[in-house]
Parts: sequence; C-alpha cells; structure tokens
Amino acid sequence: MFNQIFYIPPDKQRVVDLPRQEEMVKPSKAKLSIVLPTYNESQNIVRMLDSIAETLSPYTTAEIIVVDDNSPDGTAEIASLHAKNISNRKNNNKLHVEIIRREGKFGLSSAIVAGVESATGDLLVVMDGDFSHPPHVIPSIIEALQDSDCDIVVASRYIKGGSIIGWPFKRRLMSKGATKIAQYGLGIEVKDPVSGFFAFRRDIIDGVKLDAIGYKMLLEILVKTKGARVKEVPYTFTNRSVGKSKFDKWVMFDYLRAVMRLYRYGKSMRQKERRTSVRFLSKAGRFYTVGASGLLVNYVASLLFSALAPNIWYLYSTILGILISMTSNFFLNKLWTFEDREFNVKETGIQFGKFIGFSSLGAIIQLLLVYALVENYNMEYPLSLILAVAAASVGNFLLNKKWTFKEKIWS
Ligand code: GDD
Ligand code: MN
Repeated sequence: MFNQIFYIPPDKQRVVDLPRQEEMVKPSKAKLSIVLPTYNESQNIVRMLDSIAETLSPYTTAEIIVVDDNSPDGTAEIASLHAKNISNRKNNNKLHVEIIRREGKFGLSSAIVAGVESATGDLLVVMDGDFSHPPHVIPSIIEALQDSDCDIVVASRYIKGGSIIGWPFKRRLMSKGATKIAQYGLGIEVKDPVSGFFAFRRDIIDGVKLDAIGYKMLLEILVKTKGARVKEVPYTFTNRSVGKSKFDKWVMFDYLRAVMRLYRYGKSMRQKERRTSVRFLSKAGRFYTVGASGLLVNYVASLLFSALAPNIWYLYSTILGILISMTSNFFLNKLWTFEDREFNVKETGIQFGKFIGFSSLGAIIQLLLVYALVENYNMEYPLSLILAVAAASVGNFLLNKKWTFKEKIWS
C-alpha cells in the first residue's frame, strides 16, 4: 500500500556516538511527552526514535508520540515495528512509543495538536522528525523547563549560540521576515517565535483551545497563553539531509493569514478583559455618534442633491438624503460600533435589510410615542419629543445589537 519502504535494520541505524551521561535528561518525577509529527520520514524515523531514546535517562518516564499522516513511504509501519524493538530493550522500560496514524495529510499543526491532545506527560516537547531539530538539545530544553519560573522553552536559532546550517539565502530571509512579522504584528518578544522546536508545561494549555492556525504551532501557543514565562535555549538548525521538505510558496500566504487570525484573537482577548458595563456603554456611545453623523450626512446629501438637480422635487432630495445616511450609518455601525469585518455579500445584505427595518420601526415607535404622550398624558411637545427620541434610539440600538449584529444585549 506504500511505494517504497526504506527499512534499515535498527542495529545499522543506531547513532554511533552515544551522549554522555551529563547530556541526558535528568531523572525527575515529571513525565515527559515528545510529539513527533512525520510525513514521509521513513529514512529518518528509526534513527530519530533511537536518538531521542538515548537522550532520556533510563529513570525518566517518557513517551514519544509519532503523529503520521498516512505517509505513502510507510513511515507509520516502520515506526510501529521499531517501537516494539525499543520497548523490548531492557534499559528502556520507562519509555513508551505511541504511533498515531491519521487517515490523510491534515497538516503539520493539526498533527502537533493531535499529539498534544493524546500526550499524558507533564512536560511536552514538540520537534521535527528529520534531524533538523537535534535530539541532543532535549536535555537542555527540559532542564530550562524544570525551573520554577518557566512555562515555555523555545529552542532558538536567533539567540547567541544558535544558528542555521544548510538553508539557502531565500529561506533564511523568509524566516527572518516571518520572525519580524510575529514580533511587531503580535507583540511577541521571543527571538525565534517561528521555531518548530519547543517545550511547555502541560498545565499552561489547560482550558486553551488550540485550533492549528497556520504552519507555526508555537505562535498560536504563545498568543493564547499570554503571560506564560518563556525561555530560549540556543540550537543549530540543520537542514534535512534525507527526505524532502514540505515547505512551499503557499506557506508564506498561509503564514500571513495565520498571523492575521491570531492578531484578531489577541485583540478580542484584550477587549474581553474589560468590564461589561464599559464595553456596553462604549458601544452605545459609538452607536449614537454614528446616529449623529447620520443627521449631518442626511442634511448635506439632501442639500447637495437639490443643488445639483434643482428641478427635482425637494422631497425626492430628502428621501435620497435619508437613504444615503442610512447606508453610511449601517456601514459605520458594522465596522466601528460592532467591529464586524465579515463582508459576505448575502449576509451583509440581510444585515442591511434588518438595519433599515429597525430604523423604520424606530421612526414609527417615535411617532406613536409622541402622539400618546401629548394626547393621553397632556405632556408638552418638546419634552414628549425628547422622551420619544430617547426611547426609539435605545430600542434601535438594542434591536440592532441583538438581531442585526447577533451580539448579546449585555456584552
Ligand atoms: N503529520 C504530519 N503532517 N507531519 C508533517 C506534515 C504533515 O502534513 N508536514 C510536515 N510534517 C513533518 C515533517 O515530516 C517533519 O518531521 C516536520 O513536520 C517538519 O516538516 P519539514 O517539511 O521538514 O519542514 P521544514 O524543515 O521546511 O520547516 C520547518 O521550518 C521551521 C523553521 O522555521 C518547520 O517544520 C518547523 O518545525 C521548523 O521550526
Ligand atoms: Mn525539515
């Protein structure tokens, strides 16, 4: 069912130079999960599993979770076979290798999310399966993470001691560009926010919904765990020597889209932090400001039209002024008051219809109310008018908030 199997017997694939004892992850009570997304890594997976296993002390409870997207080269089968070899080794009885095989190629970030969701460790490490992220860095990452003042550790190419080997100029430039975009666009201070090699404490993502936004999972985690304490440890990224990168020109567009989504997410989080009363009043204030601007638009448009077309009956100019001001009110409220940036033609048309409907309803309510107050309660006309305008505009605001822009009334 797969084209080729590059199965190299494990004894031939073992890395020759074993790490020294001090380069191993120190034993601790915390359980470790290493998430390894793979797509067509048949030539790397066996050596990767072995190298990772060798960095783990025999006293560390750990699991490696390979998340494979049904690679046509048989990565998942090879990994499963080798997982048995590893569990048969006597000194590795605290290491468990788990293979998640997904039905199709759903992408790197969603593979990471799948791995993270099924991980049972307290400390999670995410890394590539092609040796670009050298396993011997794992101990220093875990050590940094075990400091009590650290929640996320980023293995970094862009701090002192870090570097990149084997990337063409273009790819380096794109990576630097992506880094700057994340730093300026999302206010992230991490030096290598687009690293794919990172670790974190499981509990910092408790209650956080990961959506696999874009190719760079770390970015989403950094944005959604604002306030988490981040440390960076240097490492040298080495471009893969076997297999193919899945990076293509679409990745850059995908990246920009992801940053935009994360930016909106961050913004809505900041707004959520404010008190409901403040947000409600701020929206009402914007709604009435738009209403006032509508009066001006109405007046200017009507006069302009009658000046441009003097032969037209003045009531037609007035009607046109009303239509124009209703339209400008609608768009200003959509964009500014209710911060709704979705411009689907059908949805926007429906919203516009509702908006006009509620405005007309407001006018009718106002008329009826003035009439009732003057006739039934013998109120002075100016006072009645104020009350009627106030009632109609409050009604207008609440109806549009709830039904046109689909928000909760008190929010
Ligand atoms: N399950 C799964 N599904 N794994 C995938 C998929 C996918 O759709 N696409 C890629 N992978 C796996 C690869 O097998 C590899 O282990 C890892 O994800 C990274 O993929 P590469 O194709 O080797 O990516 P790269 O080297 O071009 O890009 C890397 O660049 C970053 C540095 O800026 C990224 O993958 C980052 O992780 C890395 O930090
Ligand atoms: Mn790679």
